[in-house]
Amino acid sequence: MGPMTSAGVEEYLAGLFAERNPILREMEQIAAEREFPIVGPLVGGLLQVLSRTANARRILELGSGFGYSAFWFAGAISDPGEIVLTDVSAENLEEAERFLARGRFPHRFERYRGDALDRLRREGDPWDVIFCDIDKHAYPDAIEPAVERLRPGGLLIFDNMLWSGRVFESAGPGDRATEGVRAAGRKLAAHPALWTTLIPLRDGVSVSVRT
Ligand SMILES: C[S@@+](CC[C@H](N)C(=O)[O-])C[C@H]1O[C@@H](n2cnc3c(N)ncnc32)[C@H](O)[C@@H]1O
Repeated sequence: MGPMTSAGVEEYLAGLFAERNPILREMEQIAAEREFPIVGPLVGGLLQVLSRTANARRILELGSGFGYSAFWFAGAISDPGEIVLTDVSAENLEEAERFLARGRFPHRFERYRGDALDRLRREGDPWDVIFCDIDKHAYPDAIEPAVERLRPGGLLIFDNMLWSGRVFESAGPGDRATEGVRAAGRKLAAHPALWTTLIPLRDGVSVSVRT
């Protein structure tokens, strides 16, 4: 999936923000070899800045893959915190655990294998950040339970909100995934308990603050 920003912008930003943990670079290499969709370094940096700004201690990831975005979040939490990783694949989660262990973070990591929305619906302390990167048709279903479980001022973040331009009206009727992203965009924009913006970085990242 190509970025939505122009090649020049991508190249400029990539050069400007080239510095990062070598473990992240290793993960990027693996993702490229497998053609596994990760958020990439520019969105990773955004997740880090946002979660630090929100002073996040408790982060829930919906769709963690092999831990690349979680690794960025882990670097953003200053004091020991908690990150819950979710994925349908046990193999992905085990690989994520190995990478995070190498990062020597002081945090508690929980791995949940199964539908991320089931973990989201579980009762517990409110979340500071909920990041959603699951199958796109399910995006709208994540919004209401996430709003109920975020602390006031907490952040709800979705990746791929421009979905390579397939969400544009000019693209015509979309498949299940495209309609899911479109519906999520409308729902986030209109939600009375959220202030939402959509940052057109890479494939589009929506950021909502719980009022
Ligand atoms: C785009 S990848 C996640 C990449 C990760 N956020 C990163 O940037 O490193 C999506 C992952 O979500 C998982 N997934 C998709 N739908 C899911 C669901 N409903 N519940 C749990 N995991 C899901 C897939 O197995 C896949 O590993």
